[in-house]
Amino acid sequence: MSERVLLRHLDVPNIRKLDVYLAQGGYEAARKALTTLKPEEVTEQVKASNLRGRGGAGFVAGMKWGFLPKDSPKPVYLCCNADESEPGTFKDRAIIEWNTHILLEGILIAAYAIKSHTAYIYIRGEFALGAKHLEEAIAEAYAKGFLGKNIFGIGYDLDVYVHRGAGAYICGEETGLIESLEGKRAYPRIKPPFPAVYGLFGSPTIVQNVETLSCVPSIMKNGPAWFKAIGPETGPGPKIYCVSGHVEKPGLYELPMGMPLRAVIYDYAGGIRGGKKLKAVMPAGSSFPVLRPDEIDVNMDFDSMRKINAFLGTAGIIVMDEDTCMVRALEIVDRFYHHESCGQCSPCREGTGWLHKLLVRLEEGNGQAEDIDLMNKISDNMMGNTVCVLADAAAMPTQSYISKFRDEFLAHVTLGRCPLKKNGATHQHAA
Ligand SMILES: Cc1cc2nc3c(=O)[nH]c(=O)nc-3n(C[C@H](O)[C@H](O)[C@H](O)COP(=O)(O)O)c2cc1C
Ligand code: SF4
Repeated sequence: MSERVLLRHLDVPNIRKLDVYLAQGGYEAARKALTTLKPEEVTEQVKASNLRGRGGAGFVAGMKWGFLPKDSPKPVYLCCNADESEPGTFKDRAIIEWNTHILLEGILIAAYAIKSHTAYIYIRGEFALGAKHLEEAIAEAYAKGFLGKNIFGIGYDLDVYVHRGAGAYICGEETGLIESLEGKRAYPRIKPPFPAVYGLFGSPTIVQNVETLSCVPSIMKNGPAWFKAIGPETGPGPKIYCVSGHVEKPGLYELPMGMPLRAVIYDYAGGIRGGKKLKAVMPAGSSFPVLRPDEIDVNMDFDSMRKINAFLGTAGIIVMDEDTCMVRALEIVDRFYHHESCGQCSPCREGTGWLHKLLVRLEEGNGQAEDIDLMNKISDNMMGNTVCVLADAAAMPTQSYISKFRDEFLAHVTLGRCPLKKNGATHQHAA
C-alpha cells in the first residue's frame, strides 16, 4: 500500500475542504459508481472486496447490504455509526474531523447501493469539532450537487443528517443507536430481527462504522482486486491502528490490515516507554481478551486474531508496561462496563457491578482467593445471556486477565496489598 487513504489529511493538508478534496480526485469514485453502475453492481463490488466492518465485529459489509429485503415498500435508511466510545479507540474521530469528505463520499456510494435516500450520521455527543466539520462538509457537498436532488444528473436523491449522541457507550451498539435516533433511551433490541429487516422507524436499515464507509470510495476507484491485495484476502484493506498506553509514540498508524502486532508496537509506536518491559496488551479496545508479551507475534486481522482466541475489535491497542498492576487495570475496565451497562438485563447490570466491587476489594488488599474463582463464575453467567454483548465485553477481558495473570491476582490476597504499589501508597478508586 503506497499512500494513505483514511488518514490522507496527514499528507494533504486541508483535505477536509471540498476544493482540496476535489483536486485530489474526490467524488470521482462516487461519480463512477452512480453513473456507470446499478446499485446491485456497487453492492457486488463491495462484497467482492471482502471489506469487513471496522466497528468491532468484522462482518462483511457487502453481504450485510445483501440482507436488505428486495424492493422494500418502506424507506431504507443508512446509519453511519460515529459514536466511537470504545476505550483506546480514536480512529473514526480523525477521519470525521480531518478527512471529512471521504466519509461523505463513502456514505453517498453506500446509500446509492442500498437504495436509500436518507442517511444519518450518529456522532458521539462529545465530538463537537467533528460535528462542526461534518456540517460544513455536508453544506459544501449540497452546494456542489453531491448531496440533495438529482445527484450527478441521474435522478438519485440523498439527504444526510448529523445527529449528536447523548454520551453513553451503549448508543454505539447498533440497535441502541437506532433507539436513540428515534428519540428514545438507547436500550438495545433483541435480535433477530436484525436492523437490515427491522431497523430505524421499523424500516430496513444498514448501520456501518465510519472507517468501514470511508474505505468504500477507494474500492470503487481502484476496484475490489486492489483492495483485496492489501493484507489478507479474507479481510483486507487499509486499517487504522490506534496505539495508546506505555509506548514512546502513541497515536494513529494507517497500515495494511494484518500487520504483526509486535511491529505496530515496536517499529511504529517506538516500543515501550523509557525502555521498560512489556507486560500486557489489549489489542482490540477494552472489550476483548488481553494478551501476554509471548502472544504478540500475531497478525492484526480478523482471522489471525481468532486463531489465538483474541479479536481484532477496533484495533485499539492499549499497551501496558511492567509497572502496571493487572488487578488495577481490570478494575478500571470493569468500572467502565458497570457504568455503561444500560441495566436492561440482570446478568449485565448486576454482574458488571459485582465484578467491579470484587476487584476494588482485591486491589485494596481485602480480597480472598475464592473471589478470583467467583469472578470467573460471574463472567460465565454473563456471557451469551443478555440482549447485547456489552456483558460479554466485560466478561471476556475479566476471564483473560485472571487466567493469564492469576499469580498477580493471588499475590494481592496473600500479601494483603497490591504488590506493585510503592511505599504503601494507595490507588484512588472511583465509586
Ligand atoms: C456495547 C457496544 C458498543 C458499540 N459501539 C460502537 C461504536 O461506538 N462504533 C461502531 O462503529 N460500532 C460500535 N459497536 C458495533 C455496532 O453494534 C455495529 O456492529 C457496527 O456499527 C456495525 O458497523 P461495521 O459493520 O461497519 O463495523 C458497538 C457494539 C456494542 C455491543
Ligand atoms: S447486556 Fe448490558 S448493556 Fe446490553 S442490553 Fe443488557 S444490560 Fe444493556
